[in-house]
Amino acid sequence: MCSIIGYKGKDFAAPILVNSLKRMEYRGYDSVGVATLDEGKLLVRKGTGKVAEVNNKLDMSHMSGHIGIGHTRWATHGGVTDKNAHPHAAGDNKIAVVHNGIIENYKELKAELIKEGYIFASETDSEVIAHLLHRYYIETESIKQSLIKTCKRLQGAYAFVAVFQDGTIGGARYEEPLIIGVAKEGYFVSSDVLGFLEHTDKAIFLDNGDITIVDNDKVEIFDFEGNPVNRPITQVAWELGDIDKGKYAHHTLKEIDEQKLSIIRAYNQEEEKIDEFCKILSAAKNVYIVGSGTSYHSALVAKHVLGRYAKIRVEAIMSSESKYILSSLDKDSVVIAISQSGETADVLDSVRLAKNQGTKILSIVNVTTSSLARMSDSFLGTNSGPEIGVAATKSFTAQLIIIYSIADKLSEGKLGLDKEKLIHAVDRMLSNKSTVERLAQELKNHKDLYILGRFLHYPIALEGALKVKELAYVHAEGIAAGELKHGPLALMEKNTVVMILNPHDSTFNDTISNAHEIKARGATVVGISDSKEDVYDYWIPIPALSEEALYPIVEVIPLQLLAYYLAVGKNVDPDYPRNLAKSVTVR
Ligand code: F6R
Repeated sequence: MCSIIGYKGKDFAAPILVNSLKRMEYRGYDSVGVATLDEGKLLVRKGTGKVAEVNNKLDMSHMSGHIGIGHTRWATHGGVTDKNAHPHAAGDNKIAVVHNGIIENYKELKAELIKEGYIFASETDSEVIAHLLHRYYIETESIKQSLIKTCKRLQGAYAFVAVFQDGTIGGARYEEPLIIGVAKEGYFVSSDVLGFLEHTDKAIFLDNGDITIVDNDKVEIFDFEGNPVNRPITQVAWELGDIDKGKYAHHTLKEIDEQKLSIIRAYNQEEEKIDEFCKILSAAKNVYIVGSGTSYHSALVAKHVLGRYAKIRVEAIMSSESKYILSSLDKDSVVIAISQSGETADVLDSVRLAKNQGTKILSIVNVTTSSLARMSDSFLGTNSGPEIGVAATKSFTAQLIIIYSIADKLSEGKLGLDKEKLIHAVDRMLSNKSTVERLAQELKNHKDLYILGRFLHYPIALEGALKVKELAYVHAEGIAAGELKHGPLALMEKNTVVMILNPHDSTFNDTISNAHEIKARGATVVGISDSKEDVYDYWIPIPALSEEALYPIVEVIPLQLLAYYLAVGKNVDPDYPRNLAKSVTVR
């Protein structure tokens, strides 16, 4: 996923754009570029690397001009090279464009433009937008028409911002977010509110098929036919403090720590919204839960919790697999989509597929202005605030809190959601990090790590393994404890490290037997448990909880911390793992 930003206002554009790009770098970060306009001349500087590196090299923030656009790239079409970095210019530097998304028909468009004499400087799909804008501008002598005609030719998903030589900023959105920031000193057009939150909390969220022109201190919004469209100015609930690292070395650690507050915020739902959500859910004949990555692990927990407590049978499906599975839904089915960003392409595809069959959509989502929230019949916001670290941490536990709140409501309190006790337990886990930090030191040179858990703890084993893989680049596998004897036991030998999720609940006796089986093969056993057992070589204590459904929230914390400390110990940046983007808006 890339980030795009445009600025037109009273201040110098370049330093503002560079700062905005740093704020949005979590979205994608293999190359960076800025274009500014000064006295009718378009200046472009771009290169590979992170924003700070490229800025040091090219001094982008000292480019002149009060109008400009910027981009951080996460490569899809074309390698990570200076030439493929955005902005892409056209018409002898008369227009420059930054783009987020994928233009599916770019090959045909490129061939057509090359025939007409256009010369392409990059291998990207995005560059066709710049040349199309130029072609239609020459043809119509109208920026508005050039934007409309270009949008009508593009297939795929896109949000783009273009700067024209006369100082106009134009943009359009189709299946990728684009938001206008309305500040006192000027306007922003950005893929994320974090791009302008430092300057204004007033935002206009564009909808699919909206085109915008920012010109002479006003904003115009219209559809693909040129008809004016009215979009309200809304106030963004997030605050600047939420996006700063503050005293922390990394966003990831800050966000892990924030869980003592974010779980409380997740609890705080409007009663009517929960009621509406539960009403739709309990009326459904078939319930499917979709999500990707970490959010899919929440879906797995939801399946068990809704099944056991609310007696609602649920199928959890990875969003990327839903097209093979969700082909025969109906009006009596409900799909619950779980997503931090609300912009994950696979999740949105699942939702579209379901909606087209008349199925109701419920969602649990952090970004409540996202495409997913808008597509839902009813949604509950996790209220986690911005999550900047690429790895999902606080959004995961917030998703679980909402799932528990729903199950508790539908089961008339059978789940036993003791808010105060849980908050206290999370606080305890977070106030003593040294055990996990020491363990990370011990394990730092291990190449493989296995995490074992059954029932509700299996999704947490998967989640812990995902964190360790993505943050520390260590091969890690979550294993369903009961499946150990069906294969993975073959891997157990001296030097194998196995972490066991083993609280005193209905799974304890079976899982402790697994611990002995593993130990008997010479492997190292790390117990995450509320009691110290002889079989553990290392013990990570967790508080005892009266209701077993709540353990996942507590036991995932040491796994998040382990992944973080392993990354730090290996000297890799936990906030920006290689090859990953915060939300994956491509298929
Ligand atoms: C893992 C991680 C990803 C996301 C996944 C879904 O730490 O962050 O696996 O969970 O890409 O993203 P959302 O929840 O935004 O749909």
